[in-house]
This record gives sequence, C-alpha cells and structure tokens, in this order.
Amino acid sequence: MNNLVTLTKHNSIALIAVNSPPVNALSQQVRSELIECFTAAQKDDDVAGIILHCQGRTFIAGADITEFGKPPLSPDLNAVISTIEGNGKPVLAALHGTALGGGFEVAMACDYRLAERSAKVGLPEVLLGLIPGAGGTQRLPRLVGAIPALDIMVSGKPISASKAEAIGAVDKVVDDELVAAAIAYMERLLADNAPLRPVRNMSAEHVSEDSFSEYRRSIAKQARGYFAPERIIQAVQAAVSSSFDDGLAKERELFIECLKSPESEALRHLFFSERQAAKIPDINADTPTRTIKQVAVVGAGTMGGGIAMNFIQIGIPVRIVDISHEAIERGLATIRKNYERALSKGKMTEADIEKLMSLLIPTINYSDLSEVDLVIEAAFENMQIKKEIFRKLDGVCKQGAMLATNTSTLDVDEIAAVTQRPADVLGLHFFSPANVMRLLEVVRGEHTALDVLATAMKLSKKINKIGVMSGVCFGFIGNRMLHGYGREAGLMLLEGATPEQIDKLVYDFGFPMGPFAVSDLAGNDVGAKVREERAKDGFASKDERDNLISDKLYQLGRFGQKTAAGFYNYEDGARTPQPSPEVKALIAVEAQRLGIEQREIDTEEIITRCIYPLINEGARILEEGIALRASDIDLVWINGYGFPPYRGGPMFYADQIGLRKVYDTICRYRDTFGNEFGYWEPAPLLEKLALEGKSFAEYKK
Ligand code: 3HC
Repeated sequence: MNNLVTLTKHNSIALIAVNSPPVNALSQQVRSELIECFTAAQKDDDVAGIILHCQGRTFIAGADITEFGKPPLSPDLNAVISTIEGNGKPVLAALHGTALGGGFEVAMACDYRLAERSAKVGLPEVLLGLIPGAGGTQRLPRLVGAIPALDIMVSGKPISASKAEAIGAVDKVVDDELVAAAIAYMERLLADNAPLRPVRNMSAEHVSEDSFSEYRRSIAKQARGYFAPERIIQAVQAAVSSSFDDGLAKERELFIECLKSPESEALRHLFFSERQAAKIPDINADTPTRTIKQVAVVGAGTMGGGIAMNFIQIGIPVRIVDISHEAIERGLATIRKNYERALSKGKMTEADIEKLMSLLIPTINYSDLSEVDLVIEAAFENMQIKKEIFRKLDGVCKQGAMLATNTSTLDVDEIAAVTQRPADVLGLHFFSPANVMRLLEVVRGEHTALDVLATAMKLSKKINKIGVMSGVCFGFIGNRMLHGYGREAGLMLLEGATPEQIDKLVYDFGFPMGPFAVSDLAGNDVGAKVREERAKDGFASKDERDNLISDKLYQLGRFGQKTAAGFYNYEDGARTPQPSPEVKALIAVEAQRLGIEQREIDTEEIITRCIYPLINEGARILEEGIALRASDIDLVWINGYGFPPYRGGPMFYADQIGLRKVYDTICRYRDTFGNEFGYWEPAPLLEKLALEGKSFAEYKK
C-alpha cells in the first residue's frame, strides 16, 4: 500500500506530510499513518519540533465522509488528536487550501498554526447534520471565545486566514512559500525555547446562560427543523462550564446522536448527490469543452437580468438584448437596485457596482451578438416568440456559439429544429431570482452535442449553481413535478381545507412557504397565463376543478401581493398575509356548484396529498430517463423549490418512509378519490420497486 503520510527531516525538525488526494480526508489509512509518523517523531531524540502540512490542493478537508453510517474503523480521529497533542514536542500546523472539519480540529490539536493567505478554515459539520466530533466544540471556544466559535460552527461557513488570525484561530498568515515559512517559524520557536501550548489547557471564558438563550433566539429561523445547531450550542455550553475532558465526553455523546439522526443522513446524501450530479455517463474528463468569454442574454426582464448578474459577477461581459431601449433601461435599473441593496448592507462598494455594471452591454440589434460564445434566451414563455428569436440567433451568431433557452416548460427540440445547428442548442433553466437560486436545469435536447453539455455543466459550477441534467419533457424535472403538488393543494381547498391550513402544514414540514403563499408572491396571473397558452395549444386540463380557485382569483384581479389580494388579503400593502373571508366564500360557492362536500382534512392527508404526487411523478421521470438518478430529482426540489434539505429531497424522503408504504397510500387514494384523471395512478417504477422491497437509491436504468 502506498504511504499517504510521510515523515522527512529538516535538521531537527520533523516534517509530516499528508498526501491523500483529492482533499486529504482523514480516512482510516491516513489516521493510522498519522499516528505512526507522530509516534516515530516523538521517539526520535534528534527531533525537536514537528510540522504537519499537506500536499496537493488543500490541507486536510475533514473526516472521511464516506465512512459515516458504517461500523467505526480504528483508530478513530480522537486517537490521532491525542497522539499529536500529547507527544511532548512543539507541533506546528501549516495550512493551505481549506482546513475544514476534522482537518481544522487536527490543526487545533497542534501547538501553533500558520496559514497561507489564501487558506480558509472552518467547521462545516453542521452542513452534514453533525457537530464537530474531534474536539472542535471544545477547542475553538477556548481559542476564539464561545460566541465567535458558535458563529463559525452554526453557520458552517469557512473564514479567511486573515479573519482566523484576527480572532486568534491561527497565529500567523504568511505570503511566502508555506513549508519554508513553517520551517523558519519552527526554528524561531525552538531557538526561543517556546513552550508547548495545548489548547486543551487554555481556559474558556465564562458565558452566561442568558447569552446562550439569546443566541438560540437569534438562529431560530435559520435552524428551523435542523437537529445539529442546538447540539452545537449544548456542546459549547459544556465547553464553558465543565472540564475539558467532560466537555469532550459531552461532545462525543452529541456527535453520535447527530450521526444517527435522519437529518444527518439526509444532508450527507445531499453532499454526495451534488457531486454525483456533475457526472454524466457519456461525458468524461476527455470530453472537450467550449470557451465562454462573452455571453448574451435575450430579454431584459427580471429573469434575463438575474441571469446576466451570474455572469458579470465572474467577470464575463454580457450583451443584454431587448426590443426597446426603454425595456433595457428598466432591466439595467433593476439590476443596479439589486446591487444597491447589497451596498446598503455593506456587502459592496460603489466601485464594485460600477465595475459590474460596466460589463453589461445593452443593445437592440441581434447583429451585435455575432461574436458571443453563449446566448441565453429569456423571453416570454411562448413557442412562436422563442422560435422567432432562435431563427434570428441562427442567422447572426458565429459557428460554435451555444444557443440556450431558459424556457421552463417548452420543447427544446422544437426550438432547436428552427435552427441549422440543433447540436448547439440546449435548455438552461434558471430559477427566480436567478442571481440567488442555486439550481440550474441543464436540458439536453435530442441533438445537443456532448461538448455543449460538458461546457454547460462546467459553467454551472463556475457561476456557483448546482447543474442538474434533464431530458426534454413538459416542465422538465421540477415544473413537471410541481403540477401534482399544486393540483392536490387546490383540490383540498374545494374539499374543505383552507389556504392558511395547508400553507402552515407545508411550512411546518419544512418548506419556506406553502403553495398559496408562494402563488401570491409569484403572482397568480403568471400560472394562469401559462395555462391560457397551454389551452391555446390544445393542452387544457380536462378537470374543471384543476386550478379552479387560482383561475377565479386571476379573473377577479386577485394576483397576489402585487394587488394586495390573492389567496390572502394583504391590507395596507403589508406583506403579512391575512386569511381572506372573500376567498373562503368563493371556495365554498365553487364547492357547492360542483357538488363537492366540504369536510375536515387532517394533517397526514394534507401532507401526503401534497408530497406523494411529487414522488409518483418523480418515479415516472426516473423511469423515462428524464432524470439520470433519483438524487438529481432531490437536488432539483431542494435547490429550486424549497423542499427541506434535512429531509433529503422527495425521492430520499420516500426511501426513508419505505416505497411500499408510499405505494399503498397512493393506491388507497386512487380507490378513495376515483381515477377519472389518473391522478393517483401509481407510477410503474414505484409499483415495481415497492413490490420488490427496493428503494429509488438502488434503481439503475
Ligand atoms: N470525505 C470524503 N470525500 C470527500 C470529502 C470528505 N471530507 N470532501 C470532499 N470529498 C470528495 C468529494 O466527494 C469529491 O469526490 P468525487 O470527485 O468522487 O466526486 C472530491 O472529494 C472532490 O470534492 P469537491 O468536488 O467538493 O471539490 P472542491 O474542490 O469543489 O471542494 C472542498 C473541496 C471545499 C474540500 C469540498 O469538497 C468540501 O467542502 N468537502 C467537505 C468538507 C467537510 O464537510 N468536512 C467536514 C467533514 S465532517 C468531519 O470532519 C467530522 C469531524 O468533526 C469528526
């Protein structure tokens, strides 16, 4: 077996180097070899001081996440840390890249820490539903104080080396070559007879119970539904109120509790799902990609503007095209207003804004797009308009330019067919607000070239999006699934539930908002207009009940927040929704007209009728190959539609419930509610897996 950890010497200094690509995670082999090397350095009388550093792109980026949920492998990380801390010689950690989780905990077990200026340190365990489990909750408060330590651990966000130096988490930031700087630092420590400085012996400042209560209140909203943040607080309370060893024992207990929690299982699933989504079976490292140096966005509306912001923020100039100068001016003003909001929060300077705005090049002439590498069309959702735009683009764009449509529902192949270059055409479906939402559906047309797809997947990471590949179908992965969710919520109104009842239960399930609050925010006119367009194309719903209340509200001009009335009333322009007696009456009248008897609907029925259609449609999407894997569907719903991450996405959630139970409930609803429109027809794949006792995760096409 190759050595992953090596020991070399520079005079009286031992250099212990970890080299376990890609991120030097603390696998069992790395842990064993770290213990061997530290023990050897300790026993070597010629060694006076020890430096721990890493090769490759980063210092240790954490425990090996693939080992979680499996039987523990010896030695554990705490054994490594005890060996480092107890070895009797000064140890210096030299940090570069991202010293995260167990990696930063190892660094905190050293006496001194030196960091490259570009390095970052952090304890992101919370993002995996965990707390730091190798002394981080006990050492960081001793180094930087309890509340700053809580901020780092509860947010999970890494901090820069400079910030770490300012708060005392690292001793020095260096600009010189790291290992040389570390050797020089250690030589000085040895020359000065510098003392050992184990963090465990430092005292933790006292923090009152009130401060912890206040802290709990301050994070209540962001931590809603999550298991680990409260456990982090409890561990830090132990750090400031008990001995180091008792605190460590408390940390262990809480860590194990977190590790076994369904929330952690779900969040770890998402960690690997995000990385998996980037892998497309017929694309590999040798697939060529195209260079994207200039982009154009067609349509200066909210969507087009949001899309453009993604590119200017990474320094790519964007030509922004619309039919009139006024439309473009309005679009640019909206973008500027967005940045000014960031300015008022101190997140940007005037100069930053001017620099970004200078990368936007307005034009009303398609001929100005002749040199761009990628065009993203974000015009009105109408096939004829889109076809017209693509004909024009085909006429002016250079060979090799990628032509993307941001359609949220329409057939990408039909759009591609109006060009002479369908291989260059794809869908890039952003989610509103496009500068914020992390999801990007990359829609693969029948003829889309592999290098176009590879470029799009790579680009999505560059603009900080999670790119998920989807095949062509109405609504792609996300919007296609949305229909059943909205349909059932609407039907339950007619059957006796209220908008506020459904919204509250969906919120309690973990979504940021319920379906009716979302509809009022986005505008009830938006969905109604899409349905009007669909009806013109011959795709009207055959069920009169489907979206009935929503369409009625549209006809009444109750578009939602923007008209201060929708499913809710928004009196005096307030954003807080108030239950609307008018809407209640409208629902009752419609229910009576249709002969629907209203009844009490309980929590379980409301949740299952909202969520199970997602699972059922997801199963069809998976079987048809529209999504490559169940975990891609989970990513779409978490990053584009607010499905609670700690439930892992609809498909993971279904696996956790058990597909048999989901299937049986769907069959029961089919038998109860009738099957005239096929709403509760179980997807064949769901039926098959349920009857075989299998899960979506096990499914391979
Ligand atoms: N364990 C196992 N594999 C890991 C890993 C880890 N801690 N971190 C990253 N990897 C793997 C990824 O799965 C990916 O594998 P793949 O190539 O097969 O898909 C590969 O390393 C590269 O990762 P990324 O694609 O994410 O590379 P980036 O350069 O974009 O990001 C990173 C690097 C910032 C280090 C990012 O990978 C990351 O955030 N990793 C997780 C860090 C983390 O959460 N650490 C804490 C772990 S929990 C812990 O330490 C518990 C302790 O307290 C006891």
